[in-house]
Amino acid sequence: MLPTTNFTQTTAFKKLKSHHKTISKKQLKDLFAEDKNRFKKYSLKFNDILIDYSKNNINGRTMGYLIELAQECNLSNAIAQMFSGAKINQTENRAVLHTALRNRSNSAILVDGNDVMPEVNEVLAKMKDFSERVNKGSWKGYTNKNITDIVNIGIGGSDLGPVMATEALKPYAKKLKVHFVSNVDGTHIAETLKNLSPETTLFMIASKTFTTQETMANAHSARSWFLTTASDEAFVKKHFVAISTNQKEVEKFGIDPVNMFGFWDWVGGRYSLWSAIGLSIACYIGFENFEALLTGAHEMDIHFRNTPFQKNAPVILALLGIWYNNFYGAESHAILPYDQYMHRFAAYFQQGDMESNGKYVDRKGNQVDYQTGPIIWGEPGTNGQHAFYQLIHQGTKLIPADFIAPAISHNPLGEHHKMLLSNFFAQTEALMNGKSLEEVTKELAGKSQEEIDKIAPYKVFLGNKPTNSILLRKITPKTLGSLIALYEHKIFVQGVIWNIFSFDQWGVELGKQLANKIYPELQGDTPVTSHDTSTNGLINQYKKWRK
Ligand code: F6P
Repeated sequence: MLPTTNFTQTTAFKKLKSHHKTISKKQLKDLFAEDKNRFKKYSLKFNDILIDYSKNNINGRTMGYLIELAQECNLSNAIAQMFSGAKINQTENRAVLHTALRNRSNSAILVDGNDVMPEVNEVLAKMKDFSERVNKGSWKGYTNKNITDIVNIGIGGSDLGPVMATEALKPYAKKLKVHFVSNVDGTHIAETLKNLSPETTLFMIASKTFTTQETMANAHSARSWFLTTASDEAFVKKHFVAISTNQKEVEKFGIDPVNMFGFWDWVGGRYSLWSAIGLSIACYIGFENFEALLTGAHEMDIHFRNTPFQKNAPVILALLGIWYNNFYGAESHAILPYDQYMHRFAAYFQQGDMESNGKYVDRKGNQVDYQTGPIIWGEPGTNGQHAFYQLIHQGTKLIPADFIAPAISHNPLGEHHKMLLSNFFAQTEALMNGKSLEEVTKELAGKSQEEIDKIAPYKVFLGNKPTNSILLRKITPKTLGSLIALYEHKIFVQGVIWNIFSFDQWGVELGKQLANKIYPELQGDTPVTSHDTSTNGLINQYKKWRK
């Protein structure tokens, strides 16, 4: 059982509350002026990842109290429980063991007294064999042609991870092309299949439950598309594989269980890219690179498990998030990768974080009276700079942000990367320093005093905006693995401290139930009357227009 401390009742919380009153009056740039060692004190290196958190509204006292907060909430105990296979997903009575999927040490991890590692290794071996066969061309299509295209059909955690990782690791691609279909909007699959040939396309139906409406609808449409050309059901097994925990439904669909890649109920959807859900990744970048991804994550797991909180990267990032969320009233957190290949990273952790920590009931079953998970959002730099940064710089909302960039580009084209990184460095500096009235006035020299007085207020930036800078040597499978695990553990730590259950998602289940209820009502032309007047009105207008 996870601890159930209400973090707002701890001594550390009270200390932080009163400390916040004084430190919030300080400007970040003054904290730098006061302490020449600030960067050294508030940055840490993990392999090829440098995390600079010095541009935060913190000092030694803040960090000390935040760490006390983690201790009072019994974080060490929660970490130990997660890694040991305890059933900390208590609302679903499940262990939480995505860390077992990348446990390269292979040490035993017990769930209900059974070591899960032999099964994990068995599936990994099957993934290796499969990805190699498809890549080498020994897996043939029904007309004996090699597979050229993979279409992963899944949604949420059965889609976002593979999409993000295959995009981020494009420079490591072998020869297969990958496509992803998630939306139940027929446009998604129709557009994807337009340029593909049934003879050379392999579908991966990725669904933990194998009952998700969107995925099953897309899977059936893919099957019909395939059979329109292939015409013999017997060929389905050469072009469809399943990634699921539900063998019964997989067989019902017509997929040979031999071509089913299993995983377990202790792998949450949004933590599943390390499991067989990562099969499209393994096929796309090759199994050795998929293994490097696992290794990177495993190394971060070891760091998270064994490092004192003062030097523990996920713990520090989590505590900083809590600092802004619960003391400064920040409502959101931006993830801003300065790397085009990482363009789905924020979207990936939008699910990872918001589905995990978007909860209002604590671990004792009571409604919380404090803020829990933030709104996660972001786009790659520099595009975001020309879209929403204005609000971060001069809006009325506090938006803590993570800036992420690689030092080495996969595409060292002319001066592009230097330009990109000059923006990366400049933005966090500008957010911290802002621009004073004095500086603005100086810039406007030559204009009349009247003109200066008129325009200057709009050009002032208050600054004092907190950021983390995460500088990577290069985006490699291993570094990406570590980075993803860093964020996963950050989310975990925050959930522990907020005293909520981070590994269920009842809110999403509701949407699934409601859509299933309305779907049959959309058949036929008879107007519906069973809902509120708004919903009835909308459905009935839809029925009129679709005729
Ligand atoms: O979006 C809700 C959710 O339950 C996610 O947690 C999960 O990743 C997704 O649906 C897909 O579920 P499945 O893999 O069972 O199709």
